[in-house]
Amino acid sequence: MKRLPIAILGSGRGSNCRAILERIRSGDLPAETRVVISDVLDAPILEIAREFSVANAYLPPGRFRTRLEPEAEEDLVKMLREAGVHLVVLAGFMRVLHAPMLKAFPQRIINIHPSLLPKFPGLEAWKQALEAGETVTGCTVHYVDEKIDHGQIIAQREVVILPDETPETLHARIQIAERQLYLAVIAEFCEKYQ
Ligand code: GRF
Repeated sequence: MKRLPIAILGSGRGSNCRAILERIRSGDLPAETRVVISDVLDAPILEIAREFSVANAYLPPGRFRTRLEPEAEEDLVKMLREAGVHLVVLAGFMRVLHAPMLKAFPQRIINIHPSLLPKFPGLEAWKQALEAGETVTGCTVHYVDEKIDHGQIIAQREVVILPDETPETLHARIQIAERQLYLAVIAEFCEKYQ
């Protein structure tokens, strides 16, 4: 079986990254993580990569806060190409991608977001859903485009909002759903790659 060469990009905790690396290690996901990259030098996601003996790199982001410096984005493309990456998996990567990446990997960059998009893009989407009085929210995997939490939806999973829900309890249940959904979607990419 051919293994899908992936890269995982993240800025923080790396719980989705850990779930992916665990599933690969257990032999249940025919993918191969060529590299884990972060724009944050001390991000736990890089530590997780090292724990799993996966190649990892810090990408100095440059002087902007919400995007990469164009040269940094070019460097990122180079690193991913050299690593032979087919699918780029964003897992808590806090920067908007632009032309260099989107042109180099058309329909091959995916993201997970903790709401049923197009509802509640942006930060703390579970809080937004709670404050809006929703009874159901969830998570979405989508292709990445140049807008935040936007782009063609690939799959969604619903999470029911319970009567005495707090932001913390809701967020925790969405994260469980996120991991299941992301793994299922990546498994589909692996199947198509065969
Ligand atoms: C995920 O929960 C996802 O909703 C959002 O960023 C979070 C990253 O969490 N895009 P982690 O770093 O995977 O733990």
